[in-house]
Amino acid sequence: MKKILFLLSFLAISSLAIGADMSNGAGDLPASGQARDVQQANPKMKNVILIGANGRTSREIIPRLLEQDDVRLTLFLRRASRLQFLQSDRVRLVEGDATNMADLREAIRGQDIVVSTMGGMDLDVKTANIVSAMKDEGARRIIVISAGGIYDELPEPFNAWDKRMAGQYRPVNLRTAQVVEQSSLTYTILRPVWLTDKPTEVFQLTKKGETYKGTETSRASIGRFVADVVKNPALHANENLGISQPGTDGDRPAAYR
Ligand SMILES: NC(=O)c1ccc[n+]([C@@H]2O[C@H](COP(=O)([O-])OP(=O)(O)OC[C@H]3O[C@@H](n4cnc5c(N)ncnc54)[C@H](OP(=O)(O)O)[C@@H]3O)[C@@H](O)[C@H]2O)c1
Repeated sequence: MKKILFLLSFLAISSLAIGADMSNGAGDLPASGQARDVQQANPKMKNVILIGANGRTSREIIPRLLEQDDVRLTLFLRRASRLQFLQSDRVRLVEGDATNMADLREAIRGQDIVVSTMGGMDLDVKTANIVSAMKDEGARRIIVISAGGIYDELPEPFNAWDKRMAGQYRPVNLRTAQVVEQSSLTYTILRPVWLTDKPTEVFQLTKKGETYKGTETSRASIGRFVADVVKNPALHANENLGISQPGTDGDRPAAYR
């Protein structure tokens, strides 16, 4: 009797382990007919990749995406060991560099939505690489972060202050937005201003061509915004939006007053 019970529990544990393997990793191809059946049984799973996953904004996006049971997340970063603790049956880590096309193509294969939170003086080039990899792999939906101020759209005197403090980033962030707008992908471009780690998720949006409102953007609110778009990818399709917190108007962010 003991032997039979042991055998039964062994079989139960084995089948659980097989189930975990089969759902592991957004880009994993099914290895067997059984795995294919499981994928077909979950046709609504969304494969989402976060590029620049160890960044401070990404860390606010990750938990908000994982609130959605149908999201399978790929975290793309330069040294995967830093986020090893997040690996699970719904979270796959991919070590790669966005300056390397082969890394990007492999990671983007099979993804439904690509989110980039990278920064840097080569952001336009890295973003063009992402666009090109998405086209190669047939991925269509992209969300990227540029920056407020690229159209001189901040109200004065905040605009002049921001230009003095961070104007050197404006050209690269402008080219980043242009690369995405001209890509023929379905895009959402976010233009945050001075990022904070305040916990507020409340945000206000301004469209391209409108005067910006606010001087601060919480990373948590970007996390909420991205989660909203992933939940409903038609939301804010082909929009280029300023994002900031209500009540932060002024000549500069609170931390600099
Ligand atoms: N700070 C502000 O006030 C402000 C204002 C407006 C807009 N923004 C924009 O907001 C975005 C998010 O800001 P944040 O504070 O979250 O940035 P962050 O913490 O510096 O994160 C950016 C991430 O991008 C990754 N990255 C850069 N180059 C990469 C590459 N070649 N391959 C793979 N990953 C790469 C970095 O990786 P490593 O960890 O490996 O270095 C880093 O983890 C950026 O686009 C920034 O330009 C910032």
